[in-house]
Amino acid sequence: MKILLLGNGGREHALAWKIQQSPRCGELLRTHLTNFAELAALVRRESVEMVVVGPEAPLVEGIYDYFREHCPEVAVIGPSKAGAQLEGSKDFAKQFMLRHGIPTARYQTFDGTQLEAGIAFLHTLTPPYVLKADGLCAGKGVLILPTLEEAEHELREMLGGMFGTASSRVVIEEFLSGVECSVFVLTDGRHYQILPEAKDYKRIGEGDTGLNTGGMGSVSPVPFATPQWMRKVEDEIIRPTVEGLAAENIDYKGFIFFGLINCQGQPKVIEYNCRMGDPETETVMLRLQSDLVDLFQGVADGTLDRRSVSFDPRAAVCVMLVSGGYPGAYAKGLPITGVAPTLNDGRTIVFQAGTAEKEGQLVTDGGRVIAVSSYGATHAEALRLSMLGAEAIDFPGKYFRRDIGRDIIPQ
Ligand code: AMP
Ligand code: GLY
Repeated sequence: MKILLLGNGGREHALAWKIQQSPRCGELLRTHLTNFAELAALVRRESVEMVVVGPEAPLVEGIYDYFREHCPEVAVIGPSKAGAQLEGSKDFAKQFMLRHGIPTARYQTFDGTQLEAGIAFLHTLTPPYVLKADGLCAGKGVLILPTLEEAEHELREMLGGMFGTASSRVVIEEFLSGVECSVFVLTDGRHYQILPEAKDYKRIGEGDTGLNTGGMGSVSPVPFATPQWMRKVEDEIIRPTVEGLAAENIDYKGFIFFGLINCQGQPKVIEYNCRMGDPETETVMLRLQSDLVDLFQGVADGTLDRRSVSFDPRAAVCVMLVSGGYPGAYAKGLPITGVAPTLNDGRTIVFQAGTAEKEGQLVTDGGRVIAVSSYGATHAEALRLSMLGAEAIDFPGKYFRRDIGRDIIPQ
């Protein structure tokens, strides 16, 4: 089968690595075209049979629905526009969870005419305060504020257009404390298969300090995601979500990413995403033993219940090499050395997240540049191998965290 993968980050490189291992994948094309008509033309010209969508933006904009209408013979792995609202509108996601009894933080939503009511709701909560722009903000739409004064100020700013129309409505919710865990499923809209779980590290600094980033690394498995805890996640969160989508006639054939928090043993949903996580994919794909294209075919045909998923028992740790200055301003076009598809006798896989080629030389082309992912008998060994890989690859200004997973892995 000829497959087209949309998106060009580290997540997509990891998906491509896994897709290409499948004997069912005849040829894999990659693009980051965003115009649906141009994409459809490419798909027709190349006789592509399946389109796998990496990032959320085209899903929220309705790529699934566009192909349904214009190229119905092509399978799209990713939800309809209605399904992508789980990520595209925080308010939709919260209402959905309320309707289906899915555990999440208490909340209310306010628009520009309801500033006073929003402030009154803030007064009923205890610090810190969580404000979320309703729409997509490239991961920047969530503010966590330590005082009521700051929360009121930011609520005013958000409703006043701080994130454009994305913050014309703001979800205010109760702060939940606990350790986070990302759980992924593939669904055909009726059945689902659970993929390996992972934890990502969002802060730039070691010890989870400093500014938020797109993700500095990830680990899988997550030690507190025991079979018992995962059963709770499946019974209280995954199954009600998939059944809820079906009950509401929402067409959903793709990944669901459950951003969970473990509140004293009780999993609660922090957010849904309608795609895989980045950099979680760079460890999840290492641990997924099953044929991903076979799973995608099950998604497309509605026969995912006839497929099974098996996990590699080894641990995986991903360390992201980022540009100096990131997540602030950084240079691009700097030469990268030491990159190979694998390192450490095949135990380390190198995924390119933000790279380009200039006159035959691999150069930096983004904040997050290279994801170094390793297998290990233990998390500590996987981390050690990823550290070796992170040292072997070089570019001017390279920075990475050396403590990925240290908070949850046994020393
Ligand atoms: P989101 O974009 O919804 O994932 O939010 C970004 C990050 O903010 C999450 O990964 C959490 O670390 C944090 N966060 C969001 N909502 C809450 C909440 N209700 N309580 C505590 N932390 C939260
Ligand atoms: N790693 C979090 C995300 O992909 O949204």
